[in-house]
Amino acid sequence: QTRPAPLPPKFGKVAPTTPEVDEIAVPDGYYAATLIRWGEPIFADAPEFDVWTQTKEKQEKQFGYNCDYVGYFPLPSYTSNNSTRGLLVVNHEYTNPELMFPGYDVENPNPTRTQVDVELAAHGVSVIEVARGRDGRWNVVRNSPYNRRLTGYTPMTVSGPAADHEWMKTNADPTGRNVLGTLNNCAGGKTPWGTVLTAEENFHQYFANLRAMPNSDYRKAIHNRYGMPSGASERRWENFHDRFDIAKEPNEGFRFGWIVEFDPYNPNSVPVKRTALGRFRHEAATIVIAPSGQVVAYSGDDARGEYVYKFVSNGRYNPRNRAANFNLLDDGTLYVARFNADGTGEWLPLKHGFGPLNEGNGFMSQGDVLIKTRNAADALGATKMDRPEDIETNPVNKKVYIILTNNSQRGVGNGPPVDAANPRANNRAGHIIELTEEGNNHAATRFTWNIFILAGLPTDESTYFAGYDKSKVSPIGAPDNIVFDLAGNAWVATDGAASAIKLNDGLFAIPVAGSERGHVQQFFSSVAGSEVCGPEFTPDNRTLFLAIQHPGEGGTFDKPISTWPDRQGLARPSVITIQAFDNRRIGR
Ligand code: FEO
Ligand code: CA
Ligand code: CA
Ligand code: CA
Repeated sequence: QTRPAPLPPKFGKVAPTTPEVDEIAVPDGYYAATLIRWGEPIFADAPEFDVWTQTKEKQEKQFGYNCDYVGYFPLPSYTSNNSTRGLLVVNHEYTNPELMFPGYDVENPNPTRTQVDVELAAHGVSVIEVARGRDGRWNVVRNSPYNRRLTGYTPMTVSGPAADHEWMKTNADPTGRNVLGTLNNCAGGKTPWGTVLTAEENFHQYFANLRAMPNSDYRKAIHNRYGMPSGASERRWENFHDRFDIAKEPNEGFRFGWIVEFDPYNPNSVPVKRTALGRFRHEAATIVIAPSGQVVAYSGDDARGEYVYKFVSNGRYNPRNRAANFNLLDDGTLYVARFNADGTGEWLPLKHGFGPLNEGNGFMSQGDVLIKTRNAADALGATKMDRPEDIETNPVNKKVYIILTNNSQRGVGNGPPVDAANPRANNRAGHIIELTEEGNNHAATRFTWNIFILAGLPTDESTYFAGYDKSKVSPIGAPDNIVFDLAGNAWVATDGAASAIKLNDGLFAIPVAGSERGHVQQFFSSVAGSEVCGPEFTPDNRTLFLAIQHPGEGGTFDKPISTWPDRQGLARPSVITIQAFDNRRIGR
């Protein structure tokens, strides 16, 4: 794909909508279409969706719930730029049982075994083949041999320094290397060798009864640092699955919170939890190749006051031998960021033996450092950030964009004090940092940084849009996911604008260079209760995929606040396509 001139996006921006509005909006000249909904069959022999008779077995053959990350992988190969036929890899972050099941009691959950098992099967990842027809419209290829579901039940392996660590072993798996399932897969990333990385984010919420663990058990402090619930879990899976009950299975929780890699082109590939990338509430993992050929993966830990990380491989990317890259993510150095007040910063290595990461402080091995990544980062004095979400490198200017979604506790009560990199107290609308690695070398250990955007209503004096005229920008709140178009413009999706600025979430184009730098323009507005995920372009930028996650959240099955997209009484998380009527590149 030749890179077009770095021009700013051009379209008639859409007006923001308020949270009771249950319609999507795209600019004039564009159309949106629903590609696939929760429950749609993705195999030739899969049953049709029927919300009244849903089972685990049906759900395992259908598209999962709460679509988040969307990755487009061209067919027949990741090396092609085919923009009319490919695989979509879609994460299913979590379930909203109160929207999925009639009569579900949110206040006092008492789910049936069937409901719990449907939820486990509605989590995970879908791989679906998609093709653009002669009429320009996209369809799911239901009988494609590539189609696949990963769920909370799918066997996966563990690799890297924490594999077979004592704490990775359970009653069901004495090897510490065989885990069932992946959970809370939020965003993700693609590798240059055509595999996908899917990030396990808020995994803590599925585990229960930490208070039953004796205080003398050192594992309790670690589970606490990761926010494991002291009593019952929100969804009560522990009622039917012992592995989610810490009182019965103290180690299962250590087997989640990782980056999982798998090959979407091989439907039989076994997903691998790559422990070298650390254990935390991973939002995403976005890869870039350093000048040396080393592989660099950026990833945020999405919780208030948590950290920004990057992994640098020891080995080098081999563009001529695909399989030679398959274990690159098992061997390397994980770093955590310290942002200095003078606009410089350091990447601090989370390496066993470095500084305080030694036996005297309870770090017995590299596996230990990785299982307790948060504790190790605390010990090194990393900078506590305002909920790090997606992080992505701009392929045009090589800078790294770090999304901090919000932190209502910054500078408030027990929250971390305001600092240079997190400059607003009660930061409800979030911000974006622009980071430049020393020499534009992504393997460097020093960087400089600056604030790019302080989000919010432009009428709010504390906002900043890279110096652009505030009277011309769209209001934007709680940024989450970011992607770059071929011209190097940022496209930012939001999650939480309703609480931040009382508007529905959306998608926003933001030029990063030239006289339009910082000109935030709203391209898409979403429906009541939803967040906007993906976003993902085809290689030619003529199709944009968006995942509309948790439409109607805040309502219930019996009292819905959204019936998008089908107006059949039920909201269904769905992936949509957006294209121009004249097939121009999105934003040209
Ligand atoms: Fe699942 Fe960090 O958003
Ligand atoms: Ca997210
Ligand atoms: Ca992204
Ligand atoms: Ca989010």
